[in-house]
Amino acid sequence: VSEDEKTEDYLFKIVLVGDSAVGKSNLLARFARNEFYPNSKSTIGVEFQTQKLDINGKEVKAQIWDTAGQERFRAVTSAYYRGAVGALLVYDISRRQTFESIGRWLNELQTHCDMNVVTILVGNKSDLKDAREVSTSEAKDLAEAQGLFFMETSALDSSNVAAAFQTVVQEIY
Ligand code: GTP
Ligand code: MG
Repeated sequence: VSEDEKTEDYLFKIVLVGDSAVGKSNLLARFARNEFYPNSKSTIGVEFQTQKLDINGKEVKAQIWDTAGQERFRAVTSAYYRGAVGALLVYDISRRQTFESIGRWLNELQTHCDMNVVTILVGNKSDLKDAREVSTSEAKDLAEAQGLFFMETSALDSSNVAAAFQTVVQEIY
């Protein structure tokens, strides 16, 4: 087995899903480059970034895929999900409607991914405390009922961003 093939064993494809403007691209920017864009535009097509993680002292690479939440900007769905072993299903704690969409995104994951794709429900924009429309306990209950991990994050102030990606990769590994 060559060195190349060895590292392949530890390259995990992770997909970001969720409604438009919940902060998928900023979660990735924060995690991969420690950047944040206050005025980012909707993603068009598909982008991905590879990020190294340390899991129990081993180097693991996560290839994180990002696409638009909006249907009209999305690339071919089956290609996006193909080979994914992990998923971050993101909603915005300050927009209830994005939480109501979770069922639809779960359906899409179940349709296109392997049955045991490790999924974490991510309530992003936890910094927007005064605008909160989804309680932590309600989201936690849903995650439990659906067998998902759960975390609230903020791409703006960085809280739990690395932890959310780490949780998924750790569980796959
Ligand atoms: P699509 O590509 O259209 O699917 O959207 P997206 O989910 O990638 O959202 P994006 O990352 O582009 O963020 C949308 C808006 O929310 C931007 O104006 C971001 O600056 C803002 N945003 C993202 N994450 C956070 C966060 O944690 N807190 C706050 N306050 N704003 C955020
Ligand atoms: Mg985006």
